[in-house]
Amino acid sequence: SKKWVLMATARSPTNIAVIKYWGKRDETLILPVNDSISVTLDPSHLSATTTVAVSPSFDRDRMWLNGKEILLSGGRYQSCLREIRRRAEDVKDEERGICIKREDWEGLHVHIASFNNFPTAAGLASSAAGFACLVFALAKLMNVKEETTELSSVARQGSGSACRSLYGGFVKWAMGNKEDGSDSIAVQLANETHWEDLVILIAVVSSRQKETSSTTGMRESVETSSLLQYRSQVVVPRRLIQMEEAIKKRDFPSFAKLTCADSNQFHAVCLDTSPPIFYMNDTSHRHVQLCFLVHRTSYTYDAGPNAVLIAPNRKVAHLLLQRMLFYFPPPSEKELDSYVLGDTSILQ
Ligand code: PMV
Repeated sequence: SKKWVLMATARSPTNIAVIKYWGKRDETLILPVNDSISVTLDPSHLSATTTVAVSPSFDRDRMWLNGKEILLSGGRYQSCLREIRRRAEDVKDEERGICIKREDWEGLHVHIASFNNFPTAAGLASSAAGFACLVFALAKLMNVKEETTELSSVARQGSGSACRSLYGGFVKWAMGNKEDGSDSIAVQLANETHWEDLVILIAVVSSRQKETSSTTGMRESVETSSLLQYRSQVVVPRRLIQMEEAIKKRDFPSFAKLTCADSNQFHAVCLDTSPPIFYMNDTSHRHVQLCFLVHRTSYTYDAGPNAVLIAPNRKVAHLLLQRMLFYFPPPSEKELDSYVLGDTSILQ
């Protein structure tokens, strides 16, 4: 019968890099020019939820992102689907009399529905949560038996930073040195209970989509920025050792210093790119100043103006919030409407 549908659902949080990934040495396989380290957020906050379904009545692969159909022709989705199908195993649902043999998966199509509970493509690593979730849900549906690390190399081919979202806690993406990318994988440095006092605040300055995608930005930086070469060859290898040590010891002052320095250097690379890329705006710069006013806090910015502020504990986080309200007064009722809708440009 063509009537049956099998489904699997997964949820993945996003991750925030404290040592940034910026620049690819291979654009198709998505192999980076340096290692990176991130912290995975709690899945109850910024996350993607994805349901994948398979049925003999589907005539092609289709996907809906936040309720809107998107084209799957882009190479990244195809890579993930191909890599998961290649690893698929037999699936049996005896109650419903469904039996899919591993060789059948090639001829079966999937429908994918994914939702982000936060702005998409606004420099909040929505692609990280999205591709990690897609790969995990497909692997569940197709009964893939591989270890998480192996799945991370599939998610990497969707979006580089996605490979780090398959683990909780602190995660390192090792760049690897093989040409086929098989050793460019994510490993967990410490699990989510290791440093529970840390508080991460995200100040959404703008939920607008970024003007320069990370793919274009990275390509231009690799082609034109000499600072990127120095960063990837000299700075990051050293910094990585110090960061791993700081995380292991829960040494907040070192962790904060390294995190801010790495964010600054990433944005300096963007300015060193031709044409220059501006991801941070005036509000971002004010948030940075604020971090220096409230001692013992750290900030990091991805490919957008939104601040990720890290405090060593709730007390300091509270202080930071108070200060923020002081510098950025609460909006009027009218403004609040647009604020609730996610347009926080009023804060500028
Ligand atoms: O994975 P992508 O292509 O979305 O690139 C993400 C790059 C940064 O977020 C800026 C840094 C990082 O390491 O996550």
